[in-house]
Amino acid sequence: MARAEIAARTLRTDRWWLPPLTTFVGLLLISIYAAFRTFQGDYYWVDQYHYLTPMYSPCLTEECVPAASHFGQWFPALPGFLTPPLLIIPFLLGFRITCYYYRKAYYRAAWASPPACAVAEPHSKYTGETRFPLIAQNLHRYFFYAASLLLLVNIYDAVSAFSTGVGLGNIVLLVNVGLLGAYTLSCHSCRHIAGGRLKHFSKHPVRYWMWTQISKLNNRHMQLAWASLIFVCLTDLYVALVASGTISDLRFIN
Ligand code: FES
Repeated sequence: MARAEIAARTLRTDRWWLPPLTTFVGLLLISIYAAFRTFQGDYYWVDQYHYLTPMYSPCLTEECVPAASHFGQWFPALPGFLTPPLLIIPFLLGFRITCYYYRKAYYRAAWASPPACAVAEPHSKYTGETRFPLIAQNLHRYFFYAASLLLLVNIYDAVSAFSTGVGLGNIVLLVNVGLLGAYTLSCHSCRHIAGGRLKHFSKHPVRYWMWTQISKLNNRHMQLAWASLIFVCLTDLYVALVASGTISDLRFIN
């Protein structure tokens, strides 16, 4: 349907630009932090308490601290400025970038396509996600599988760190996997895997129950997307601060 003949870009008089601007600044700051930590290549493992930051897990190359490589060192050391997280980041980034919520967020915030409801976009043509490169958004389900595997690795890291006692870092790692787990379970693909393509829910009570529970989480997908993203950075920051000796871990049980 053609747009109504309105000369103004929008008739909205509220601060419609604030949510996309906030999203843009938030995503930019998190990207800068993640890039810095990725290329820093240090302070990702606390040997004393077995804390491994989720950003470096699994640590699969020969330059990793051996004790931090819970699943072995499958690859030789990467050349030059390349660091171990670069092997896993494509999967995590792919999962977030193709996420239904983040698509909405960055289509609005970065591409102004459209920037908000009832605000015209600057682009003259709209082709949706039907052509390259945006057709690749359909790979989301496969990134979901990869991210789920990485989540299991993070859970293993968090649980195995309890072998040294209990400190604030253990709680931080645990909350982190809780939020990541809730975000992953609330994924639209996960919901579809649980309850999609069924003609009769009544004949599949277990899948119906799972679909119902996932749907409840799915209602909070945006909040979980932000909470898990911010908390991954905070978890990494905590591990980096303890690993570098800037702060001491608060210990409850040694
Ligand atoms: Fe957001 Fe799948 S839709 S993670």
